[in-house]
Amino acid sequence: MSTHRKVTTSSLMIPQRETMAQRRARRAAERELLRGARQHGAATAAARRAAAAEEERIRRAISAAGEQRPHALRNRRRFTVPTHRATTRNLGGVYLFQAEGGLGADGMLIGTEVYTAGSFFFDPWVLYEAGVLTNPNIFLVGEIGSGKSALFKSMVIRARACGGHRAYVPGDVKGEWTPLVQALGGAVIAVGPGLPNRINPLDEGLRPVGLSDEDWAREVRAHRLELLRSLAEWLGRRALAPTEHTALAIALDTAAENNTVPLLPHVVSLLFAPDQARPLQLGFDSYDRLRDAGHELGHLLGVMVSGELAGMFDQPSTVAFDPALPAMSVDISRLGESNPAMPLVMTCASSWMEAAVRDPGGGRRFMVYDEAWRIMRELPLLRRMQSQWKLARGLGISNVAIMHRYSDGSAVGDAGSEQRALAEGLIADTATRIIYRQKADQIRTTADVVGLNSEEAGMLPGLDRGIGLWRVGNRSVVVKNTLTDAEVALTDTDQRMHADGR
Ligand SMILES: Nc1ncnc2c1ncn2[C@@H]1O[C@H](COP(=O)(O)OP(=O)(O)OP(=O)(O)O)[C@@H](O)[C@H]1O
Ligand SMILES: [Mg+2]
Repeated sequence: MSTHRKVTTSSLMIPQRETMAQRRARRAAERELLRGARQHGAATAAARRAAAAEEERIRRAISAAGEQRPHALRNRRRFTVPTHRATTRNLGGVYLFQAEGGLGADGMLIGTEVYTAGSFFFDPWVLYEAGVLTNPNIFLVGEIGSGKSALFKSMVIRARACGGHRAYVPGDVKGEWTPLVQALGGAVIAVGPGLPNRINPLDEGLRPVGLSDEDWAREVRAHRLELLRSLAEWLGRRALAPTEHTALAIALDTAAENNTVPLLPHVVSLLFAPDQARPLQLGFDSYDRLRDAGHELGHLLGVMVSGELAGMFDQPSTVAFDPALPAMSVDISRLGESNPAMPLVMTCASSWMEAAVRDPGGGRRFMVYDEAWRIMRELPLLRRMQSQWKLARGLGISNVAIMHRYSDGSAVGDAGSEQRALAEGLIADTATRIIYRQKADQIRTTADVVGLNSEEAGMLPGLDRGIGLWRVGNRSVVVKNTLTDAEVALTDTDQRMHADGR
């Protein structure tokens, strides 16, 4: 309702006859009355406004800019205080409501941040581009059954939906990725005793666009040689002698020259019987010497082509790698989880798949090494894994290693040993480390490796299934991975525990 009132005046009585002077005087008196009334009205309104402003001023705790009053906290000069840095624990004494700001809403939804109840999103490529991460690799450790594989399975599903990312699982030890890969429209290659599929780990893989013939040949040779050396060193439980190195390289080169697709049996038979039509390489003055140098190697690598592993990796591949597929896994569960040859099989399958994803133009891809501890425990296989880790950034691949505890990688070798240095280097080359529930005796190693403070380390034994501490670059967030009903069905590894046999 308006408080403005219009002021008017009129003479109540005008004499019938009045002189001009009287009329002038009467009108002047009327105007005077009117002016007085208006002035009074304006004064009343101004007083009302001033009273309202004063009331508002008193109500406000902090004075307005330029306002002068006692304790106004204002100064002619800009008010500056030196930056004060403190831990959130101390700052909590000043302002209670502090929470990690999150990593933004780009990427796939993982679940909720436990302390803020906010949504948590993650995409290693997005965060790499934003400068939060220095590489897209991920390490995940957690006790048996803590939900590690389920986390990555849900990530793979969501990454496919959000960004069209692809996922490869080179060694699916339990065959647990099969339903998921099939649901995504991918391909599962099952290899094992009695199965018809064959994988040739010496396949050259997919050639990246723009690589010269020479560079490509060099890359293929290095990849094959690295695999053969790792296998031989693991089988012999020792490093190769220099003459053995050369003998192995000669056998591989000869196998590649004499066959369109070299196979492991070609290399093995050339180690036992070098090709005498080939000129002798410098350092070997007779074919007998060359044969002696390769003889033991032939026996070591012979394991791959005879006995239990025969028929898995010793023939031309019966399957082709299709880079257009959304997901691919190599199911090696038929071999039996506790088979001592499992690390060997995982390495061959990984090598085959790694050769196939060497195209940097292949888009964003996850390479998931579930049960990576089986490889990380073995020095020669770990060495090969590390070189793959180093390549990740250039290829646009996010390598994901899943294991039970960090001591699988670092404590097996003594302090100062090559194995320990390699494992620690691998972990250092991993910008995202996720820690699920850990046993009390593992806390110290985990805290040392990841660089956790005492609060973070203390929470690890009490983490529930599906909840983990995420160290993303140098940020820490506790995240609960939430699964949809469909995802629970696809990630269920508890079937054998269900009484109804679900
Ligand atoms: N966030 C979650 N919400 C609901 N169920 C979950 C969650 N995470 C895992 N599970 C269920 O818990 C079970 C065990 O999970 P998972 O197989 O991922 O554990 P793991 O840590 O990989 O175990 P292992 O060490 O044996 O490989 C699965 O049946 C899975 O569906
Ligand atoms: Mg698992």
